[in-house]
Amino acid sequence: MKIQNILFALGCGLVSQTLAVISWEEADKKASSFVSDLSEAEKIDIVTGYMNMQGTCVGNIKPNSRKNFKGLCLQDGPAGVRFNEGTSTTWQTGINSAATFNKDLLYKIGKDQGAEFYAKGINVALAPSMNILRAPASGRVWENFGEDPYLSGVCGTQITKGMQDSGVIVSAKHYVANDIEHNREASTSNMDEQTLMEIHVEPFYRTVTEGEAGSVMASYNAVNGVYVVQNKKVLTEILKEGMNFQGFIVSDWWAIHDLEGSFNAGVDMNMPGGKAWGPNYINDSFWGSNISNAIRSGKVSSARLDDAVKRIIRSMYKMNQMGNFPNVNLRAQSMHTETHRQAATESQILLKNDDNVLPLTKKYRKIAVIGKDADKAESCTDTACTNGNIIQGFGSGTTDFTGITDPYSSIKNRASKEGITVVGSISDSANEGANAARDADVAIVFVRATSGEEYIVVDNNKGDRNNLDLWHGGNDLVKSVAAVNKNTIVVIHAPATVNLPFINNVKAIIHAGMPGAESGNAIASVLFGDHNPSGHLPFTWAKREEYCCDVSYPGELPHGGDSKTTYDYKEGLFVGYRWFDKKGTKPIYPFGHGLSYTTFEYSNLSSSLVKSGTEVTGLKATFTVSNTGSVEGATVPMLFLGFPNVSEMGDYPVRNLKAFDKINLKAGESKTVTLEVDQHGLSYYNTNKKKFVVPTGGEYTVYVGKSAGDLPLKVTLKNTQGSNEGSSAGGNNNGDNNGNNNGNNNGSNNTGYDCCADSNARVQYTDESGNWSIENGNWCLICPEKPQCFSISLGYPCCQGNTVVYTDKDGKWGLENGQWCGIADIPSPSTGCPYQTKNGYPVCKTTTTVVYTDSDKWGVENGEWCIMCN
Ligand code: BGC
Repeated sequence: MKIQNILFALGCGLVSQTLAVISWEEADKKASSFVSDLSEAEKIDIVTGYMNMQGTCVGNIKPNSRKNFKGLCLQDGPAGVRFNEGTSTTWQTGINSAATFNKDLLYKIGKDQGAEFYAKGINVALAPSMNILRAPASGRVWENFGEDPYLSGVCGTQITKGMQDSGVIVSAKHYVANDIEHNREASTSNMDEQTLMEIHVEPFYRTVTEGEAGSVMASYNAVNGVYVVQNKKVLTEILKEGMNFQGFIVSDWWAIHDLEGSFNAGVDMNMPGGKAWGPNYINDSFWGSNISNAIRSGKVSSARLDDAVKRIIRSMYKMNQMGNFPNVNLRAQSMHTETHRQAATESQILLKNDDNVLPLTKKYRKIAVIGKDADKAESCTDTACTNGNIIQGFGSGTTDFTGITDPYSSIKNRASKEGITVVGSISDSANEGANAARDADVAIVFVRATSGEEYIVVDNNKGDRNNLDLWHGGNDLVKSVAAVNKNTIVVIHAPATVNLPFINNVKAIIHAGMPGAESGNAIASVLFGDHNPSGHLPFTWAKREEYCCDVSYPGELPHGGDSKTTYDYKEGLFVGYRWFDKKGTKPIYPFGHGLSYTTFEYSNLSSSLVKSGTEVTGLKATFTVSNTGSVEGATVPMLFLGFPNVSEMGDYPVRNLKAFDKINLKAGESKTVTLEVDQHGLSYYNTNKKKFVVPTGGEYTVYVGKSAGDLPLKVTLKNTQGSNEGSSAGGNNNGDNNGNNNGNNNGSNNTGYDCCADSNARVQYTDESGNWSIENGNWCLICPEKPQCFSISLGYPCCQGNTVVYTDKDGKWGLENGQWCGIADIPSPSTGCPYQTKNGYPVCKTTTTVVYTDSDKWGVENGEWCIMCN
């Protein structure tokens, strides 16, 4: 534990622990020894849920007194400890945490949430939730981190590190592609492998590999026809083997439909144990003693049982839970209001602020606060009620309410310090709202919408929202207030996008999201400028029909059955802003948008690749950010990457978020900022190789700016992957940072395999893409030597095309994109076969029989003439 964390813990009076951090290897040794004398029945008790959710925690594993083993308590998450009866913080939701774009704060959120779980003796927090926002109407988007896989991965990783540093195992969920509530337990999310890996698995990749998550929750839905809990490819090949995941996989609650399928696919813990909800199923499990019978009949192996047990115990050792872990007591007090307040405040997103109507200052003598959403949040089971401020959605990801602050009271308190009068119409009555607004200097209208989990229906919305309209007549309320007050400000509490029919009739809009108990203080702080708004949209705000995808509302099918609703992820990689880029559609507010009361300028971008030998291992971008306004504030520079346009990658998004930071600047201050992208961030998923690879050839484009729609800085970098250029023996960064593309495409081919390092390698096999060899045990393609061009040494790139514009003593010159470039000589057939079009005819790809000879030798391939290389 770091010194400052210890001090912070002491300052808050926390019951926390000092973690003796051990490696997975050490944890594995201890787990092996623990497991070695367990009987089969004892092992089965560790993998099968106990009490079927009728016990203390939502998930329980039975204690074993012989082994002095306390069992396990698993509890929701992610907005704090569920069912805590007011003894711990009612946190902001995941989407609000993401909106802070503040990595240090995300860690702290995890750390402090973890301390609350720890104090209550909870071993596993069922959080963070990391599904991708494809469709804003999807019920659980507020639990997750928005539309971008990188942002979601960073949020998941930071929160995981924080929680696990507090001694609590996270269960990152819902793995994977559980993105629509309707028929979540009888639906299949269908997509190609690249989309699965780059978009939907990606947040888990970072959380597992960097965050070292101790557990992952397998989701209800199927992927490509096979329920995730029975999907060996998804659970064992991708997660356990592909990511070297050391922890355990727990099923989502009652997601298990059989023993063999789930056990053999790689689920390690069946939760909450019974076949279905209810006391009748406490001792009726697909697992339990059925595992013994299945081992006897050879349907499952005892080795698989040992592996599952060891994974669970190993995670417990890793997080130091096998010693003095607190006893379970969901009522143990542990609060972290300060961290929560900071997060709630930093998550408020200023979407619009015409004429600088905000912040509120003494120039306004009278403020009207309007709308039931400004009232205290209504508390009820799983927050399935909406008669007040919306601070969380509904479902399992909620907490009991404590210390709730409401917008109306917080605004009144704050305004009184300035001597400003506040009048209220704390109802959704359009007439009353207009009456209150009429003679006020400013009218602030609070409006709302909510969504949640499938098992609850609120106002006819079965988890997923039926539409994106505001609830409880919000549009009419805004309309009537804006008609009588020219300084109308709208504050929206909602899971994600709502329709904005009033957008042009109001001066300011704040998207407050679902900010938790500090909702009132957070909005007051931003409205009065005590905190200069610094939240940013973790999703694109557009009209419903313009998104890549939408939810649908199919009729209910039996859970776990063979017939499933199909959700086709036809958008592929193009989710969120990637879709809008592809379509050239301008959204209402782009991903990353968020205004401040000051202004920022970005300048002086330079960028370089980091190399180790011939391998590209990273990218650095350095630039200046300046606060050009008159008040202090924080800006979030975002780095988006355009990938090389090489055929091996197929149709790829124009821009992808790969790095960001949050930088605080005093008025007039400037700072130099460096953002880094790691090798994984420079890679795409190659389906032939079944791994992430850095592409070869072409160029990366680095964009830096304040949102996906505001990227003023841009530089292009030649991709030197696979070549000696820009590399140093020690692997230091001395990469090419001149932004030039010199067109040297060494090592590029469209097969997905690397070009052989030795271009004279012995041919092992030939197919239509060329000649193949084996190097270091891997297939490689014998690629032609790409022509080097003379102009590089003169500081000009190689031309991509072949039109000669001018010839001098150095060579032949062309003009491309307004810049001189050198034309390389096409190598003569004797120096190798260039595999590129010549005189309009392709070069033969195989050693076809010569059919005809003129100045070249000709063959016929696929019914077409082609030129032979030799
Ligand atoms: C949800 C999970 C939750 C579990 C336990 C399920 O319905 O999908 O997110 O952790 O219940 O409450």
